[in-house]
Amino acid sequence: MLLTGSMLRLIRLLSCLTLVLFLQVCYAKKDSKTSCYTCKQITENFNKGFERTAKQNFGGGNTAWEERTLSKYETSEIRLMEIIEDLCDSSSFDCNHMLEEHEDKFETWWFKKKTKHPDLHKWFCIESIKVCCPKGTFGPDCNACVGGSENPCHGNGQCDGTRGGTGKCSCDNGYKGEFCLDCRDGYFNEVRNETFSLCTECHSSCKTCSGATNQDCDECKEGWEEDDQEAYVDECSKDPSPCNEDQFCINTDGSYSCKTCDRVCSGCTGAGADKCKACASGYQEAEGSCTDIDECSQSESVCTKEHQECVNTKGSYVCICLPGYEEKDDECVQIPQPGELIDRKFKVC
Ligand SMILES: *[C@@H]1O[C@H](CO)[C@@H](O)[C@H](O)[C@H]1NC(C)=O
Repeated sequence: MLLTGSMLRLIRLLSCLTLVLFLQVCYAKKDSKTSCYTCKQITENFNKGFERTAKQNFGGGNTAWEERTLSKYETSEIRLMEIIEDLCDSSSFDCNHMLEEHEDKFETWWFKKKTKHPDLHKWFCIESIKVCCPKGTFGPDCNACVGGSENPCHGNGQCDGTRGGTGKCSCDNGYKGEFCLDCRDGYFNEVRNETFSLCTECHSSCKTCSGATNQDCDECKEGWEEDDQEAYVDECSKDPSPCNEDQFCINTDGSYSCKTCDRVCSGCTGAGADKCKACASGYQEAEGSCTDIDECSQSESVCTKEHQECVNTKGSYVCICLPGYEEKDDECVQIPQPGELIDRKFKVC
């Protein structure tokens, strides 16, 4: 298709229009962001100028003429003009533009509104030309920031406020999330409910943590590793125990070992007769320790056969034949005297 001259002109015109629209959008965006700042500067400079001119045209004397002149000057158009003259730096386009556009508003305020609305920033920037919003609010309608205008970002961040703002929070150090209630890595929630959060820094060895000490690390920071002591403490207190029933567990460097319980114990928590869980059979608990039961001195005799006596041993007892007797066929029988043997021999031979 051939492009005619008029079509080319049309295309050029459309491109220009698009560019103009684009620039306008950009300017509007920049405008809403900066005009509140510009307005603030103007009102701050106004207040400074107001103070500066307070003593002007006052000779320091105290004549009636001076008093009268001064009180006239205080509210005069001359004073207003002197203040306005110094509101903007000559190089600041934004400031001079805003001032030119709204100079009549300063006159209105100066002569009619000052008494009822002494806060110039509030009256001018927020209520009249509507470029700023009250603290803690944002957007074209000055809606409350997250967390409410009294406590924007729940006290843990800065709300992107004023008319051009998005209301988004930039959270302070240690906080994150839309509401600035969550803690960043390296911080933990010391206090938290729906409207309040206090994030405190972890111990320097933790990447993430649930408390303030190095015992509370969820994850170690780079260059740190979990202490083995922690690991082997856990080894011995495991359930079931890593040791046998007649052993106790002790932690060693980086590991654990099992040691046999004292023989007076049936299971134990450590070495010695006083660390028994229960006493082994033949032993009884006495004064916090397991001691031998003397079966021989029990009221009921344990060795019941004739010519037997009882001998106590550690943890048990034995029944042995009395002196002069020996065991034969599960009985204690008299040991034959040497004389008798000879006698018999004689008889046999
Ligand atoms: C949240 O905690 C703060 C500080 O402890 C307290 O002042 C506030 O009343 C609490 N709010 C709720 C809803 O529990």
